[in-house]
Formats: sequence, C-alpha cells, structure tokens
Amino acid sequence: MTGIICGTGSYVPPYSMDNNDIAKLVETSDEWIRERTGVVRRHIIEEETTVSMAAEAGRLALADAGVDAKDVDLILVSTISSNVILPCAACEVQKILGADHATCFDLNAACTGFLLGYNTAVAYLESGVYQTALVIGSESLSNLTNWSDRGTCILFGDGAGAAVIRAGEGRHYLPVTHSNGAKGEALTCKSRHDHNGLTRKLEPENMAASEYSMQMDGQAVFKFAVRSVPQAVEEVLEKNQVAQEDISCYILHQANRRIVEAVAKRLGEPIEKFPMNLQEYGNTSSASIPILLDELNRDGKLEKGRKIVMAGFGAGLSWGASILEWK
Ligand code: COA
Repeated sequence: MTGIICGTGSYVPPYSMDNNDIAKLVETSDEWIRERTGVVRRHIIEEETTVSMAAEAGRLALADAGVDAKDVDLILVSTISSNVILPCAACEVQKILGADHATCFDLNAACTGFLLGYNTAVAYLESGVYQTALVIGSESLSNLTNWSDRGTCILFGDGAGAAVIRAGEGRHYLPVTHSNGAKGEALTCKSRHDHNGLTRKLEPENMAASEYSMQMDGQAVFKFAVRSVPQAVEEVLEKNQVAQEDISCYILHQANRRIVEAVAKRLGEPIEKFPMNLQEYGNTSSASIPILLDELNRDGKLEKGRKIVMAGFGAGLSWGASILEWK
C-alpha cells in the first residue's frame, strides 16, 4: 500500500509584474534579474487570498482526479502566508469545497512545505488512517515581501498548487528529510503579532516594514541549496535502491535557475530532466512544486509508471527529497 497522486490542480493570479515593472520600484534591471535568477515575471494577488487560491487549486485537483470533495479524508495546506490564523487555511478550504468529512490542518515548512505535506499524507495513507488526501501549497508572498529590498523582491511570487493522493497498490518509497534550525537566520520573517500590549511593547522604531518582511542572506541560502539538494537526492536514491537512470525527471522547488542548473551538474544529469517554470512565476515557496507538477501533468509530460524525484529546500533551514511513481 502506498500513496498515489491521482489528480493535480493549480491557480495563479492573472495579474503579473515583469522585471521592468520591478525596476520601477528598486534599482535593478531585467538583465540582472534574468542572469542571476532566471525569473522574468511573477504573478501577484489582487482580490485573491491564500485561502481562495488554495481552494481553487484544490477544486481543480479534485476534478482532475474525479474525486468528490465529500470523499476527502484529509486536507493539508502548506503555507507561510495565510490570510487567516484561525481557523486554519485547510479548514477554510474545507468549507469552500464542501469536504465535510475531512480532517484539516496547516503545515509551515516554507519552501519544503509541499514535500513534507506530501510525505505526511502518504504516511497517513500507508498506515490506513485515511484513504484520500488533498495536499495544497498556497502562498501570497507579496504580503511578506519588502518591496524596497532589491535583494529579495525580485525573487518571489504568489500562487497555489494541489494534489489528490489516494491509497493504492504500489511500491512504498522512504523519503529523506532534514532540518537545521541553527542556520535559520539565513531566511527569516518575523511575526507581525509579537506584541500583546500588556507585557510586550514594540518601540515604533522597531516596527519598520523591513523587520516584518522576509529577510535573506542570499548567498548563504544559495550555497546551502546547491550543497544540500544533490545530497538529499543521492540519499533518497540510495535509501530506496533506485538508480539515477530510472528517474524520468526531477521536480525541484523553483527558487532560482542557477540553483537548478547547479543541482543538475552535481548529479551529472542533463538539464532536460529538470523542468522549470520559475521564469513565469518566480519563487512561490510551497506552491512551486505542485504548480509545476500540475503543468507537467496537464501537458501530458509525466509518463505512467515512471519515477519522479521531488526535492524541496528553504527556510528553517529545511530540505528533503522523495521518490514517487506517476499514476
Ligand atoms: N539588482 C541589481 N543589483 C543587485 C540586486 C538587484 N536586484 N540585488 C543585489 N544586487 C547587487 C548587490 O548590492 C551587490 O552589489 P555590490 O557588489 O556593489 O555590493 C551585487 O549585486 C552582488 O550581490 P549578491 O547578493 O552577492 O548577489 P548574488 O549573485 O548572490 O545574487 C541572489 C543575489 C539573491 C539572486 C542570490 O544570492 C540568490 O538567488 N540566492 C538564493 C536565494 C533563494 O533562492 N532564496 C529562496 C530559497 S527557498
């Protein structure tokens, strides 16, 4: 018994900003951003929210799977940017979709979030606790972005992706997951709610927007990614006794084209095995893997029975890789 992805969906806001639009906000250029990151444009919410995008991606994934919302046992939303704290985004999605029988909770593991959500759902399915799970990554990173910091605002975008996973017959693969909280300062976003007015007061000078937006040591994160992702991929292949040549494609978190290229090089794999869409969406954190998965699925690029590696990495620090067989 294992978990099998039987449907995918995604939602990306129609409003987009290209690099020239960003160059009107900060001192940068289309050429610099393309060269250093591969990003050309990113989509930004207008009326949408993290919850509304999650629900739409989830609805499309259920339709693709041919699964009724009432048959979903588990809804798991991975997000760092929900527009609601209580109730959790997953419960809000449940309400919108009418998935009355589902158990719902959120998961915060930044850009590794969808991978950990997938692993969590598969563990529940394999142990027989649930039969059908809807795993969603949804982010409104534009709300957490410091739009006057050229080191970060060029990178991120908004969107949501989802997968329906069902218990079924197939090989069980063990995932590889790691965290290193000691290195967490490399990518942070402080709470907007860390003063209660009773015992903790924030001085006005400490309330600058930059303090409450994402802050990143870009080079540290870059080095971490190019070192840890190939290691995690090699570890997961070794752990499951799967050869690299049996992997049809590697679906990496879409942070930066240079990171993806460096991972391909370190693994000695052709770049063609690493599909990318970061040029269109930027880094959408936990939404990036399921959005890409959905695009590949809808374009008919995932062959039945072929093995795929998914790999995520990001704030925490956290990272990992999983093997799955396409439906
Ligand atoms: N436009 C123009 N110049 C910029 C710039 C921008 N948007 N951002 C930074 N610069 C400048 C810097 O100020 C610096 O100038 P200086 O040499 O005069 O001081 C120079 O470019 C080099 O800066 P540096 O930070 O070393 O650039 P970099 O090559 O490391 O690229 C990132 C910056 C952010 C693109 C890169 O570090 C990166 O992609 N890191 C990983 C980030 C990531 O993926 N995070 C999410 C992981 S989940």
